[in-house]
Amino acid sequence: MGSTVDRARLKGLMDRELSRFEADHPKSGELFERGKRNLPAGVPMPWMTEWAGPYPVFVREAQGARFTDVDGREYVDLCLGDTGGMTGHAPKESVAAIAEQAGKGITLMLPTEDSIWVGAEMQRRFGLPYWQFCLTATDANRFTIRLARAITGRPKILVYNYCYHGSVDETIITIEGGVAGPRPGNIGPPVNPTETTRVVEFNDLDALEDALAHEDVACVLAEPALTNIGIVLPDPGYHGALRELTREHGTYLVIDETHCICAGPGGATRAWGLEPDLLTIGKPLASGVPAAAYGMSAEVAERAQAYLASVPTTDVGGIGGTLSGNALSLAAMRATLEDVLTDEAFERMIALGGRWADGVRTAIDAHELPWTVQRLGCRAEYWFCPEPPRNGGQAAALDDHELARFTHLYALNRRILLTPFHNMALMSPATTEEDVDAHSRVFDEMASELTAR
Ligand SMILES: Cc1ncc(COP(=O)(O)O)c(C=O)c1O
Repeated sequence: MGSTVDRARLKGLMDRELSRFEADHPKSGELFERGKRNLPAGVPMPWMTEWAGPYPVFVREAQGARFTDVDGREYVDLCLGDTGGMTGHAPKESVAAIAEQAGKGITLMLPTEDSIWVGAEMQRRFGLPYWQFCLTATDANRFTIRLARAITGRPKILVYNYCYHGSVDETIITIEGGVAGPRPGNIGPPVNPTETTRVVEFNDLDALEDALAHEDVACVLAEPALTNIGIVLPDPGYHGALRELTREHGTYLVIDETHCICAGPGGATRAWGLEPDLLTIGKPLASGVPAAAYGMSAEVAERAQAYLASVPTTDVGGIGGTLSGNALSLAAMRATLEDVLTDEAFERMIALGGRWADGVRTAIDAHELPWTVQRLGCRAEYWFCPEPPRNGGQAAALDDHELARFTHLYALNRRILLTPFHNMALMSPATTEEDVDAHSRVFDEMASELTAR
């Protein structure tokens, strides 16, 4: 456990790293101070204060798997916009398609031919035949939840403890001390989410069965593996049982592939042979241009169409967005799927994910740290415990903020960016073996300093 780390040593090392960060990043520090004049907390969004340093590095430019900050320092980017940049930054095929489409019109409220190509490609990858397009994975999840409630006539959804599906009111719920309620930090919930949502632990089939037995759950919204409280993999057989139980109780299964696309070109759905009724995905679909999609089985599409035909309008009913399905997003999605996040690219990226995990594991063993590594395709993560957790509650209880801040800042000061909020690394088509090995060396150095006697 993290508790085996000498806390006095950790504090000394952290103070040293904080001083080093400030000395190395004067221009970012200046911009941060200037930013405070007009941006609360000096940054465009509140979560941008959660990086390990006293302030975030401000970016000058990013190319492939690297970016340069305003102080002229170049980094290996293993955060990759926490999956929004999984394509690598500014991939040339996408940039060309984006520039071309931008010159021909960005948003029209009318469809373009690209939408038809992308719909067919989404079916090839994920199996579901019908698709709709919007701008964020949050919206894709909100819209599928609305559709599922509308066509089943059921009021509730079900999610996993410590899931994350974006800023979707129904999903910001956890179980604390055995009691479900608004997740700690839930900002201004419209209602107590227990009114809209049932929440169970991942990998707990009994709890799932009990919750579904009420027969008031329109859909289960599930990541195939939890990825937002660290990577928590499903037990063998879990997904088969989840599918069986949802069918038995007339509940739709929505699979959120926004992060689990790291498992392969068709996400975990294709890699593990899942059979969702609906599927959502956002973030990397258009190389970072806002774009998201939700897919439906033929049965759901038919019921959804019948429902939509029965209501007076479809534009003000809660599924919409003026910019949804715009020409630019669709052109960028097409280029991304056709030329960047290809089947061949995934082969390389997944091998790099394995190399990253091996590098970390070797250092953990060499320094006899009771830590472990978990991986899903081209996404991998280290845990400060000997066995990876099996559910969100266990994962949340393992949080060691002090230690995680140190390991992140240590890497950042040595020009490697990890995903904030957990100890995650993601590989892009532009990531190289050298990038991965650079992290392994820095991780080994960090482990050596932390355990030195
Ligand atoms: C699994 C999953 N779904 C949905 C989202 C929401 O994505 P966005 O913030 O782009 O709407 C996230 C964001 O981290 C996510 O991890």
